[in-house]
This record gives sequence, C-alpha cells and structure tokens, in this order.
Amino acid sequence: MGTIGNLLIELQEVNSTNHYAERILRNGEVEEGTVIHAWSQTDGKGQGENRWQSEPGQNLTLSIILHPLFLQPGRQFILNKAISLGVLDAVSHYLDGVKIKWPNDILAGSKKIGGILIRHTVEGVLLKDSIVGIGLNVNQKDFGPGLPDAASLAMILHREVDLKELLTRLCDAMEMRYSRLKEEEVSPLETDYCNALLGIRQERIFLVEGKPVSGTIQGVDEFGRLLVEHPGDGLRAYAHKEIEYLGE
Ligand code: BTN
Repeated sequence: MGTIGNLLIELQEVNSTNHYAERILRNGEVEEGTVIHAWSQTDGKGQGENRWQSEPGQNLTLSIILHPLFLQPGRQFILNKAISLGVLDAVSHYLDGVKIKWPNDILAGSKKIGGILIRHTVEGVLLKDSIVGIGLNVNQKDFGPGLPDAASLAMILHREVDLKELLTRLCDAMEMRYSRLKEEEVSPLETDYCNALLGIRQERIFLVEGKPVSGTIQGVDEFGRLLVEHPGDGLRAYAHKEIEYLGE
C-alpha cells in the first residue's frame, strides 16, 4: 500500500481543506500523504481571488500533504505535472478524452470538471511541505449562471459516481505518479503531461497582452511556462496569466 491516503482525516464541514492542512502543519509534524477530505467547504479557495464553489456532499474537496524534500524548488513544476496526471488518471477511469488545461485545470470537452491549488513551503534549498488542494465536480447537477464553464462527471455520464470509490482511485493514482517522481522517472511524466495538454500541437487563438494572437502549444518548460510557437514570430514562453486560451 502506498502512502497517499493511508492517513485520512474526514471532516463533515470545514472552511477550506487547504486552510485545515496549513493549520495542522503549523501545529507540528504531519505524515506524508495525509489526506484531508471534507464533505462540505464553507470557504473553498480557488485560483487567484476565486472561490471554489461546491454543493455539500456532491463533489470531492480534499487536500493532500506532501513533503517533497527530494525536489529543489526550481523543479517544483514537475510535481504539478505529477499531480495533474494523478487527477487525470483517476477521472479517466470514468470518462475518455479528459484533458489538462495548462497549468492544471481538468477539462472534459470545454467544461471544467476539476481544479487544483498547490501551495509549497520552501526551507533552504528544499521543498519542505506541499499542500495539494483538489476539487472535483462529481455529482452536482447544476452550477448556476455564474459558472457557465463548469460541469460534473454525473452531468456528462448521466449517472452518479460513488465519491468514496473515486477518492480511493484518486489516492492510488496520485501515489502511482508521485512514487514515479520520487524514483526520478521523470520522462513519462513529461511526455504524458505534454500529451494530455488541451490544444497541444494544434493552432489556436490566444490572448496575449490584450490582443488575440495565433499560436501552437508545443509543451511546457521546466519552470512551468507554456511554450507557444507563433507563426512568423518563433517560440515564446509564457508564465501563468501572461497568456489566455481563447479557443480554435
Ligand atoms: C481552481 O480554482 O481551479 C483551484 C480549485 C481548488 C479547489 C480545492 S477544493 C479542496 C481544496 N480546498 C480549497 O479551499 N481549495 C482546494
């Protein structure tokens, strides 16, 4: 048995599983792979200033605590890749064609079914703690007009998915990807992540500095920047928020 999910803290309700993880890390040692799973979050955090909205009891909201001491902070994006792939692997058990929208949104078609929020703590030259927050839309049937791009597995599959079963699959898939990374088997992670990227090697329209530009995603560099080839303008690397994906 792996380490991820060996220790499971199950909460009926919490403000945010990421906050709960921060709190227990502040209070002492926490075993690697500890999972905090909440049936309901009252103040779920999303990327940037966004909130993560999730109907109580309908979806998966959890945080995983890792201690990736084997990774130097400059290489932290490889951990993002392993994590996104772990989520993708688990969801792919239910649904084909799931993609990663760079850097780590989980998409089914054009709909977002999952989001990942990772926070690292660096000590000296090492990554001491990582809090990996994962929100997966599973059985919720309606996201309201405020979230037109969100969907759940159940909305796509037309059946409900057992949350505990999905949680076990997620922990196992995550363990598989994370243990590969620990063993320095990096190249399958690089290749799989690249192949799972939404729009990879297809010409698309992006928004850069407020202007629509045409380009083709070629991959992601070691710092996690998106590599886009622009016709007549060569290959450029973009950090998060420097480029927005507009579509075909
Ligand atoms: C995103 O905006 O795409 C990231 C969403 C991450 C949501 C998860 S739900 C569990 C964990 N706790 C939080 O407060 N946020 C993350």
